[in-house]
Amino acid sequence: MKWFKNLWHTLNTPAKYLTLGSISLTAFLMGVIFWGGFNTALEATNTEEFCISCHSMESKPYQELQKTVHWSNHSGVRATCPDCHVPHSWGRKIARKMEASSDVWGWFFKTVNTDAKFESKRLEMASREWARFDRDDSLACKNCHNYDSMKWEDMSKLAQKQMKRAAEKDQSCVDCHKGIAHTLPDMGTARAPELIAEVGTGPNSFITGQEYFTALTKPLFFSSNGDVEAGTLNVATKVNVLESKDKRVKIAIEGWRKQMGAGRVIYREFGINMLTAQLTKDAAKTEGVMKGFEEKEDEMTGLKWQRVETTLWTDADYLITEQQPLWDYARDTFRSSCSVCHTQPDEAHFDANTWPGMFQGMIAFVNMDQDTQALVQKYLQQHSSTFVKEKH
Ligand code: HEC
Ligand code: HEC
Ligand code: HEC
Ligand code: HEC
Ligand code: HEC
Repeated sequence: MKWFKNLWHTLNTPAKYLTLGSISLTAFLMGVIFWGGFNTALEATNTEEFCISCHSMESKPYQELQKTVHWSNHSGVRATCPDCHVPHSWGRKIARKMEASSDVWGWFFKTVNTDAKFESKRLEMASREWARFDRDDSLACKNCHNYDSMKWEDMSKLAQKQMKRAAEKDQSCVDCHKGIAHTLPDMGTARAPELIAEVGTGPNSFITGQEYFTALTKPLFFSSNGDVEAGTLNVATKVNVLESKDKRVKIAIEGWRKQMGAGRVIYREFGINMLTAQLTKDAAKTEGVMKGFEEKEDEMTGLKWQRVETTLWTDADYLITEQQPLWDYARDTFRSSCSVCHTQPDEAHFDANTWPGMFQGMIAFVNMDQDTQALVQKYLQQHSSTFVKEKH
């Protein structure tokens, strides 16, 4: 019981003495208690009443659900909140409940207790939900719906066409059926929300000298106050953080440029058209911004290339510590978007300089935002025959 006494002591200590660690621990334990680490409590927390004790919030999302077919239909089967949101297997259930201790955090700090606050967080929350459905191929939906039991003849032409193809691949329902239970979030100016839900927005503080990777295309600036733009930094690019100040970081970028024109474009490697950054004319001309090193001629094109380094500032968000999650997301997107009309071509079927043309030729056929396009193109180049061959 000693640990319990200690815990009690901690909980009884006035708030100003609580360390962040013990606050987290308390929140975690509250999470376990609230959501139930044990089966009985687990069942109690698995009811719609429990969910709407917090989630009635004036009108959302409970009221919204009541307007949908999942609330009322001719077969009288109702889908409740936990049916769609809480996984059925025990392991996953516990994992989701642990994650849900952020619900309790949110409740303490009242993050979504009014309509306005709910709306302003809706896109962020929905994106996380989409990522969850994506990870388990919409298992929750498939607990009630089964591709094998669907009667195609009774469906609309459009449904038949799309759904039969989805069934062949046992595709995740939420790939196509978003906003079936709630109003869709306002996508506004959000950039690649599903990608960001998957890889995160990056750390709040940086270790100088460490490598980071861009999760979106980002602006470059001359100085930390960000008043003059110096160019753009491409997605999935490795940078070295040298300094951080307020909401910006100073980064070092390495690469190669072609010795032609202003030479404003930095590519990742000699002879390979894989974008790293594009500087403005001013930035490229400014003394000391672009440092040049050795030169080499590309035999294929007869062009001279030069190795370069530059240090500039960028916003501190969307710099993440690992590159692999970006490739994982790009691979999934490539496989689902590019296999609609033909089997998706093998990544290593083309080389790094052929892929951009191929990819751009197909882009009109798919629904992909610009950040995702840039990422998938880079993924294809990175996994093309150029690099795969080198490995063997
Ligand atoms: C103690 C109050 C409370 C209870 C009970 C509760 N929630 Fe939540 N829930 C919240 C709050 C607050 C948030 C917003 C968290 C945040 O700010 O990120 C949230 C967020 C969510 C989200 C968005 C997920 C995300 O990653 O952003 C879903 C889905 C959700 N809740 C479903 C449920 C379901 C299903 C139940 C019942 C099994 C439930 N909640 C029970 C308070 C609660
Ligand atoms: C508890 C069981 C249950 C779960 C879980 C469930 N559904 Fe349903 N769904 C139903 C029922 C029942 C109907 C209505 C069938 C009818 O028309 O009688 C329905 C209808 C639908 C429809 C037809 C909508 C329309 O307007 O006709 C779609 C699309 C759908 N569900 C998708 C999903 C998706 C996607 C998920 C997962 C996010 C899901 N369902 C989860 C039971 C469920
Ligand atoms: C590739 C996209 C895609 C996927 C994946 C997909 N659907 Fe559909 N589904 C559609 C389209 C398109 C329609 C037709 C919508 C319309 O008519 O407005 C449809 C219609 C439906 C309908 C109504 C059929 C009718 O005409 O009565 C149901 C129910 C449904 N889907 C359930 C599901 C479920 C459950 C899953 C996952 C097991 C799923 N769908 C996966 C595209 C998809
Ligand atoms: C038929 C399946 C289904 C049911 C039932 C359902 N949800 Fe959802 N919910 C989803 C899906 C799918 C999303 C992802 C966003 C979207 O596509 O609308 C979502 C998103 C959310 C979000 C994130 C904010 C948003 O609006 O996107 C919250 C919070 C939430 N649900 C809570 C609940 C609560 C509480 C209930 C019960 C009153 C409930 N959900 C019932 C499928 C469901
Ligand atoms: C709407 C249908 C459709 C979609 C979606 C689609 N393609 Fe294609 N694709 C075609 C057709 C039709 C051809 C053959 C005609 C042609 O070459 O223009 C083709 C040919 C190709 C070829 C072979 C070209 C050659 O000359 O060898 C590649 C590579 C390719 N697609 C890649 C992709 C990629 C990558 C995506 C995803 C971004 C994609 N496709 C999405 C319809 C599609």
